Amino acid sequence: MKILVIGSTGTIGSAIYNDLKKDYNTVYGAHRNSQSYSIDLTKKESIQALFKKLPKLDSIINAAGTAVWKPFSQLTEEDYYVGIQSKLMGQVNLVHLAQEYLNDKGSITLTTGILAEHYEPNAVGLSLINGAIHSFVKSASNELIRDIRLNVVAPGAIAGAFPEDKKFAGYLPVKIEDVVGIYRQILNNSSTGGVYKIY
Ligand SMILES: NC(=O)c1ccc[n+]([C@@H]2O[C@H](COP(=O)([O-])OP(=O)(O)OC[C@H]3O[C@@H](n4cnc5c(N)ncnc54)[C@H](OP(=O)(O)O)[C@@H]3O)[C@@H](O)[C@H]2O)c1
Repeated sequence: MKILVIGSTGTIGSAIYNDLKKDYNTVYGAHRNSQSYSIDLTKKESIQALFKKLPKLDSIINAAGTAVWKPFSQLTEEDYYVGIQSKLMGQVNLVHLAQEYLNDKGSITLTTGILAEHYEPNAVGLSLINGAIHSFVKSASNELIRDIRLNVVAPGAIAGAFPEDKKFAGYLPVKIEDVVGIYRQILNNSSTGGVYKIY
């Protein structure tokens, strides 16, 4: 199985990448500042360029994408566009482009988060994006070509990166091993259109 992990140096992406490397021979780790597999999700040509460099893939996991954290009263239209360009359209464009470079029945897994449905101060910009991606996945998964699957993982705050005894959006943080386990489960099941919440 050939797997691409985007955001492979991040809190979530590095854990996925290092875990999958133990069991799968071909796991490519990509991120913006990578020397080997550079990708900027905000630029379609960059997504395309990485795919052209790689062989056909069986699975793509994305754990990259940002949005602006600010109180609602301070959020500008430009702030919203940061998240729309990165975490929202970055992942949407990834799905459009990835289809051509995946084998039949290949799998695409995106990442959102608890903020899609739970409130946290300063996080309205993130909530907007996460909710939109959930709707996108439920709908677009019905129309992907060659039985390609599309799912999304929505984790709570990751313990360690966030204080373990403090609640985030009303929930205690989750263990990174459990979060990685969900990405693994999707890799090996046949689901599509799934929103996998872990919090
Ligand atoms: N950490 C959490 O507690 C948590 C909880 C729930 C959901 N999430 C969501 O999970 C995703 C990953 O979060 P994280 O905390 O693991 O992030 P992170 O630690 O900040 O790491 C982000 C990763 O993505 C790469 N990256 C950043 N911008 C990119 C771009 N435009 N194109 C391609 N790669 C890019 C970074 O590489 P470079 O350094 O090379 O740019 C890095 O490898 C985010 O969408 C976040 O909202 C995080």
